[in-house]
Amino acid sequence: MSAMLTVEKMVKVYTAHGSRVRAVDGVSFEVEAGTTFGLVGESGSGKSTVARCALRLVEPTSGESRIDGQALGPLRGRALRALRARTGMVFQNPVAALNPRLTIEQSIAEPLRTHTELRGQALAQRTRELLDEVGLAGAHAERLPHQLSGGQCQRVGIARALATRPKLLVLDEPTSALDVSVQAQVLNLLQELRREHSLSYLLISHDLDVVRYMSDTAGVMRNGVLVEVGPASDVLVNPTHEYTQRLLAAMPETPGAVPLHELRPDSTVPSENRILS
Ligand SMILES: Nc1ncnc2c1ncn2[C@@H]1O[C@H](COP(=O)(O)OP(=O)(O)O)[C@@H](O)[C@H]1O
Ligand SMILES: [Mg+2]
Repeated sequence: MSAMLTVEKMVKVYTAHGSRVRAVDGVSFEVEAGTTFGLVGESGSGKSTVARCALRLVEPTSGESRIDGQALGPLRGRALRALRARTGMVFQNPVAALNPRLTIEQSIAEPLRTHTELRGQALAQRTRELLDEVGLAGAHAERLPHQLSGGQCQRVGIARALATRPKLLVLDEPTSALDVSVQAQVLNLLQELRREHSLSYLLISHDLDVVRYMSDTAGVMRNGVLVEVGPASDVLVNPTHEYTQRLLAAMPETPGAVPLHELRPDSTVPSENRILS
């Protein structure tokens, strides 16, 4: 297997009000092609920063990253944007990520307009195709973000991330803002899309359940350091690192919550969250 994303000795130091924060402190890992690497850790442990540094959305203090073998560090401007277009990002707050004045169709057409030559009929067709892929039938196309549920908005976010046909998606807390029942639907959609398009995922979550459900490999971050990394079934079931053990032990038991692995895409969900076909 080959690495779709390689992160090497990544360091990011922020200076704020005269004090220095080592947000990322020498992190190295690989996302193998066609697999999901789950990055877990408490809020503020540096998960988002390491992902942003990896895609060079934030300039790292030091360290290097490669997408499909190609180093981002030496690239500037157009070349950097071209390599970055082979990746897509999905964020935590799906409603806020969308322009409230654009219809769903326009929101999905936007990255296509920016990053591809598609116009007119071809643009409309590819937009429909993307809507279809994320399970949003035609009726949603003309709606505005506030007319959709959170789960539906996140489907739009996923369609936008897929617009340039990337091989790698960075999913930063993709379901953290969603109801538990809707979380499982979105995670299952992501699983299907990954298989269908041979995608690789860097999944970031503070939720151990989500990472366990989705990941082949898992990494645990603490204070900017990757303290443990290995097969998800080992790391998140029988952790060797004392910090991971505490993280697992501290997992909140949500009263009445259905474990993710017991949820199916067709399980009972509130009707407003059902995807119309
Ligand atoms: N733009 C920034 N300026 C200053 N400090 C930042 C900035 N972004 C993040 N940090 C700090 O870096 C650390 C890691 O943050 P972050 O990567 O967002 O963690 P996580 O995604 O794991 O919650 C935190 O201490 C945070 O306050
Ligand atoms: Mg974060």
